[in-house]
Amino acid sequence: MRFFLDTASVTEIREAASMGILDGVTTNPSLVAKEKKDFRQLLAEICAVTTGPVSAEVTAVTCPEMLAEGRSLAKIAPNIVVKIPLIKEGIKACKTLHDEGIATNVTLCFSANQALLAARAGATYISPFIGRLDDISTDGMQLIRDIRTIYDNYSFPTQILVASIRHPIHVLDAAKIGADVATMPFKVFDQMIAHPLTDAGLKKFLDDWKASQK
Ligand code: G3P
Repeated sequence: MRFFLDTASVTEIREAASMGILDGVTTNPSLVAKEKKDFRQLLAEICAVTTGPVSAEVTAVTCPEMLAEGRSLAKIAPNIVVKIPLIKEGIKACKTLHDEGIATNVTLCFSANQALLAARAGATYISPFIGRLDDISTDGMQLIRDIRTIYDNYSFPTQILVASIRHPIHVLDAAKIGADVATMPFKVFDQMIAHPLTDAGLKKFLDDWKASQK
């Protein structure tokens, strides 16, 4: 499983990248808005920190405008992935960008049929939002299971990028299902590492070691 950071914060991306296990970054308009920086400049900065795929979302809602925006975003750096909302115009834009060799991440996916359409349109990644489904009392992880089954049935190369991850159990369950990528907030990265028994065990080892050196 590959790990992406779901943030537009260069500080967080730098810190995660320093662990050597960061495979890419996903952003969305809400995350970018928090940074209060020029969008294109921010993307260039992020792409300089990580060589992995960096998803940059279009804000247009018609196919011709999405195509213009997507082609322009793709010019910022070779690792830009154009993120497109899962609406009818987005599916059209995805197919065209795929035919042009531009990588895409189809976002705001909430059903297996939507994921099936995105795969048929040649999406590089599909982003099912599991946390937001959990929020409305629907099992987000079941969507990941369904998409995995469908993509495996037809050998679709579209990668399942689990998004809207809220806690480490989401990552664990997605890994058990065989999702390709988990994109998570920086906080979840930290939560995956932390374990009280590791801290207590390390403290005891070091205390015992120091005592034996006296
Ligand atoms: O990047 C899209 C997605 O991960 C958003 O997550 O927590 O706002 O539902 P959230």
